[in-house]
Order: sequence, then C-alpha cells, then structure tokens
Amino acid sequence: MSGLCNEKLIYKNLVNGEWVESASGNLITINSPADGSLIGKIQANTKEEVDNVIALSKVNQKKWAKIPIYEKATILYKAASLLEERAEAISDILMMEISKDKKSSLSEVRRTADFLRFTADAGKGIEGLAISGENFPGGSRNKMSYVKRVPLGTVLAISPFNYPINLSASKIAPALMGGNTVILKPATQGSISALYLVEAFQDAGVPNGVINTVTGKGSEIGDYIVAHDGIDFINFTGSTEVGQHISRLAHMTPLLLELGGKDAAIVLEDADLEFAAKNIVEGAFSYSGQRCTAVKRILTTDSVADKLVKLLKPLVEGLTVGDPRDNSTITPLIDSKSADFAQVLIDDALSKGATLVTGNKREANLVYPTLIDNVTEDMEIAWKEPFSPILPIIRVRSIDHAIEIANESEYGLQSAVFTNDINQAFYVADRLEVGTVQINNKTERGPDHFPFLGVKASGMGTQGVRYSIEAMTRHKAITINLFEQ
Ligand code: NAP
Ligand code: G3H
Repeated sequence: MSGLCNEKLIYKNLVNGEWVESASGNLITINSPADGSLIGKIQANTKEEVDNVIALSKVNQKKWAKIPIYEKATILYKAASLLEERAEAISDILMMEISKDKKSSLSEVRRTADFLRFTADAGKGIEGLAISGENFPGGSRNKMSYVKRVPLGTVLAISPFNYPINLSASKIAPALMGGNTVILKPATQGSISALYLVEAFQDAGVPNGVINTVTGKGSEIGDYIVAHDGIDFINFTGSTEVGQHISRLAHMTPLLLELGGKDAAIVLEDADLEFAAKNIVEGAFSYSGQRCTAVKRILTTDSVADKLVKLLKPLVEGLTVGDPRDNSTITPLIDSKSADFAQVLIDDALSKGATLVTGNKREANLVYPTLIDNVTEDMEIAWKEPFSPILPIIRVRSIDHAIEIANESEYGLQSAVFTNDINQAFYVADRLEVGTVQINNKTERGPDHFPFLGVKASGMGTQGVRYSIEAMTRHKAITINLFEQ
C-alpha cells in the first residue's frame, strides 16, 4: 500500500512530498452514498497546517517556476500515463465514493489523462510577444515592449464532489504549466479520489512541495484558507452560494469561479424531435443530473410540447436506476439532503398544478428520474438548480418568450437550441445570456479545450486548457529603449 493511506484506510495529505496525518488527530469518515460502505477516513486539517502548507508552497514556487516548460510538460505526460495505468483501480474508488456509474467513472479518469497531455502541449505553445513602439502615433522603433507570461504564485484549487478527479486536474495541470504551485482542497466527499490523482502527479515526478493538499470541511477550514494572504489565485468550482461567499472573502485575490447552472433546452417547431428528445434525456439525467451543465429545463411551445412529451416519457422510463456498479444511469444522490431538496421541488411543482409525466418515486437518497410538464413561473423548479434527476417542461408562447424565460434565470452557464433553421438558431443563440450556446446538442462542457464559462451567477473567468493557463498567469512587460542610431 502506498504512503497516501494505511491499512485502516486512513488517508493522509501530501505536504512537501510526504504523506502526513493532521496533528489535530481529527478524521472525517467517508462512506459510499451507494451502499453506506466505508471508503476511508480523511484528515481534518488545522489552521496552523494551512499556514505551513501555504508557506511551503510559496518557497517551492520560486524553484518550480525556474524549471523549463518542456520539463514540466514531460511530468504531465508521465502523470497522464500513470492515470491511464491506474484507471480501473481509481475509477472503482471514484464510483463508490461519489456514486457515479462505472462507465462514467472510468471515462472521467481517461478524460483527465487526455486533459493532462493536451495541457502539456498547450503549455509548450505559450509564447511571448514583442511590440514595436513605432506602431503608435509619436512612438519610435527604438522602443519595444517584450511581453511574456509569468506565474501568479500559489493557486488554491477547490473542487466539487461531482468530478473530483477531472475538476481537480483541470485546475492543477494548467496552474503547473503556468509555473504556479498548487494547494488542492477537494470536496470532502470526493477527497479520496482526488488524493489518488495527486499521488499520480507525485509519482510522475512533480517536485516536493509543488502540489500540496488540504482536506477538511469547507465550512470549517474554507474561510481561513480562502482569505489567507499567501494565496495568489483562487480557482473554484462549486455552488453559486459558496462561490459568492468566497468572492466576498477574497478581497483582491483574483478568482476563477465556475458555479451553478439552470441550462435550458429550447426546442423549436422545426426541430428533429426524436433526436432532440434522446439528446435532452442524456443531457438531463446522466450522473443523476448532478452536473453543472445538465439540461435543467425544457422551453417549448404547446404544439411541440405534446409531441415531445410522448417521445421523452419512454426514454425517461427506460433509464436504468440503481447501483453504480451495475452501470445504472440513475444512482443514489450524493447525500440525503440532496434527495430531500429534490422532493421539495417535485412536491412544490405538483402542489401548484404541474403535471407529473413520470417519476416522483424515492428510496432513501435514490430519486427516480422525474419528468414534469406544465411547469409555470411560480414554481421553484422553474428557477432552482435541482442537481438531481428532475426535468421540468415550461410551455412558452413563442421563441421570444422562450428567450425571455431563459434569460430571467439568475444563472447563465449554457443553453441549447434545437432547430434545423440556422437563422433561427443564431437568432436564439445571439440573445441568450449564457457562456455557451449549443446548437443541436445537449449542454455540456467538453471538449475540454473549448472555452467554458458562466455569466451572471454561474461564474467569473474562463476555463479550458489554454484559457485556464492564461487565467493563472499574467503578462509581464519589459520595455527596451535603444539609443538613437
Ligand atoms: P459546494 O458545496 O459549493 O462545494 C464545492 C467546494 O467548496 C467543496 O470543495 C467544498 O468543500 C468547498 N467549500 C465549501 N464551503 C467553503 C468555504 N466556506 N470556503 C472554501 N471552500 C468551501 O458544491 P458541490 O456540492 O461540491 O458541487 C455542486 C455544485 O457545484 C453545483 O451547484 C454545481 O452546479 C456546481 N458545479 C459547477 C461547475 C461549473 O463548472 N460551473 C462544475 C461542477 C459543479 P466541502 O465538500 O468540504 O464542503
Ligand atoms: O458539473 C459540471 C461539469 O463541469 C460538467 O462537465 O458537461 O462534461 O459533464 P460535463
């Protein structure tokens, strides 16, 4: 067994290249949401340990920044290979820790290996720029600005439970290529999977102290680390509530925030409805709807809705429900609080006159896929992010009405428009207040080198390989002044 955990399944943190236990002696037990089995115990770090990790990260950043980019890239390639070699074992842990079906868990690990390779390549492509002074009125060719990108320093990476490996790596790898050190604070439920990712980086040769980890409940240790003077950048993915809280604490520390969403699928009258229905069901229900980019509402007119509901119903009823080990699409939600919230949203909609098409069944934290028609604007499910397998249909009067309701949301992550008319597609896409509009596809983040961003309450800044490297580096300009020749 490697140093990251002992025979009692007590997991440790990586600090300056060593796997260490917290001096607090406090452990947090991680049980599987799928069957309650013990996954392991993680450390609850103290404030003093946070101080220590930040101090170490700052010292090591100076050394890491000096390592040539091609050497940094070589380490990332190695980490990618290790992840692939370990994909089966790591995905088994991921599957049970966050109750994600085996196929999706494996694909998360493999997608992350691809992400690391692509990030290494992109990092090698980052170049400087020389700008001649003569281009500006009154300037001179004896003056030149040499502009390069330099690291920000120590990046605090905070990842959510739903992609503990991919959304940790998508912060760590670009930060490293940019010459930063990283402190990873993963979601408590998801920490163990994230520690295996960090182990792969360490085994690949990331020097001691370049990646350090802190574990413990965000509600207890989060504010302290976020507000710490030693943090130079916060790269956060999680709920809007916590993201907004962090942005208030961060003072002048720059932030990249990827937060919640309420992605709409707008289905126009000329759309291929069979295709749209299949695509929307995949988008809404994969990993039980626990994705920021899940389709979280359908907006369509009466004439389309009647046909669409007939197509959606059998597809939703055909989804597999049960254990992640059986590759079920719908698995127990991350905790019972999430399932309680889902039930509140369903009950609220039905009590206000919405039509239950299928679902509204629950066994502990397993919520069956639920399709609700005739949802109106007074219902909570019209606006709230369920993060569970619930899909509401809101019937609209027209395309403009769909756009209006889509934009009324506090969120602005993505939206989809289904139509065979490219002019209508652009009419809608141009008017939606979101980071990305998908034409004839479900909302989704990938491919991972595309820009990924949310507007309004969905986030700040842009992710996606090159964009992430840029976000975690800054320009440095050196102006050269030649003597008059
Ligand atoms: P969350 O409850 O906001 O937690 C996210 C992370 O923040 C966890 O690591 C959590 O640690 C930590 N945290 C909590 N309180 C903190 C504090 N005061 N200071 C610093 N860190 C703190 O979100 P989640 O339940 O894990 O994930 C679901 C949410 O994330 C959804 O809203 C979803 O839409 C969003 N999400 C967005 C994207 C995107 O790219 N836009 C991607 C994935 C998920 P603990 O676990 O220890 O509390
Ligand atoms: O949960 C939010 C993730 O960033 C969504 O990624 O669209 O690839 O599932 P995904």
